[in-house]
Amino acid sequence: MKQPQPGKQPVAELTDVTRTYKMGDEFVKALDTFTFTFNSGEYWAIMGSSGSGKSTLLNLLGCIDRPTSGSYRIRGREVSSMDDDTLSTFRGKELGFIFQSYNLLPQLDVLENILMPVMYQDEYPDGIEERALRLAERVGLGGRLHHKPMQLSGGQQQRVAIARSLINDPALLLADEATGNLDSKTADEILELFDELHDEGTTILLVTHEQDVGERAENILRLKDGLIESVHRGQRGRSGATQAFEASHSSVAPHAGDAEAEVVTFTSSEPGRSDADGGGEA
Ligand SMILES: Nc1ncnc2c1ncn2[C@@H]1O[C@H](COP(=O)(O)OP(=O)(O)OP(=O)(O)O)[C@@H](O)[C@H]1O
Ligand SMILES: [Mg+2]
Repeated sequence: MKQPQPGKQPVAELTDVTRTYKMGDEFVKALDTFTFTFNSGEYWAIMGSSGSGKSTLLNLLGCIDRPTSGSYRIRGREVSSMDDDTLSTFRGKELGFIFQSYNLLPQLDVLENILMPVMYQDEYPDGIEERALRLAERVGLGGRLHHKPMQLSGGQQQRVAIARSLINDPALLLADEATGNLDSKTADEILELFDELHDEGTTILLVTHEQDVGERAENILRLKDGLIESVHRGQRGRSGATQAFEASHSSVAPHAGDAEAEVVTFTSSEPGRSDADGGGEA
């Protein structure tokens, strides 16, 4: 498992990213000149009402989709201009995905599902089966290695998906409504697992509709109409809840790695820009 990293590094840097969809003669700006940096070891909940651009953002972050314009770098590498093959290899190695509906392959057992992302790689990395075994144990499924998905509970299936997402030691863990199909107790167990992964230094970006799920994360990025509505940092923190304060965009710029909680609210009087660089340049 990863050890906590000494200093935060930019992992996912979006600069002036716009994603426009064409619907007949109309254009929908699902993300509008979006500038933001997610740093290593951070745990973000991405929230906002339906249609605010959450899935669009997650799809771009996960390299499932490409920006219409703007730059997206992962660990310093520009991904928006990679060709499809390079991008899909890169995606497999650098990104882990967790979906609401688990997306396990029904014919594969627990261990094989965890190993799925490496099956598509050119080389089978040394010691990867041992790593899959450790991950299965890590998520509490050491006793279920050869069960098929339909022989597992929903929470266990999501644990398999989490182990699978970690097999390549990804730069970013992306979760879309990861607890949406689970009862509250099971959801809580999954969120505890995310807490532990965060404490171990994993970078987690989680889209959720649920306020209580969002509040479990270290930070909340709230979207509205393809723009950043607010940035709330350090609410959970390593040492428990901290006090938050509200500030306008113009008076306080968000800074990466601040120990104290901070809320930056973007008002509708600043149209056309969602510019909240986590690196401190607002
Ligand atoms: N393929 C598409 N074609 C056209 N418009 C799209 C497409 N996908 C998304 N949009 C539009 O882009 C905007 C953002 O959509 P997105 O799916 O990112 O919202 P969301 O925040 O994930 O919403 P939800 O909470 O309902 O999942 C919406 O106005 C939506 O109608
Ligand atoms: Mg969505």
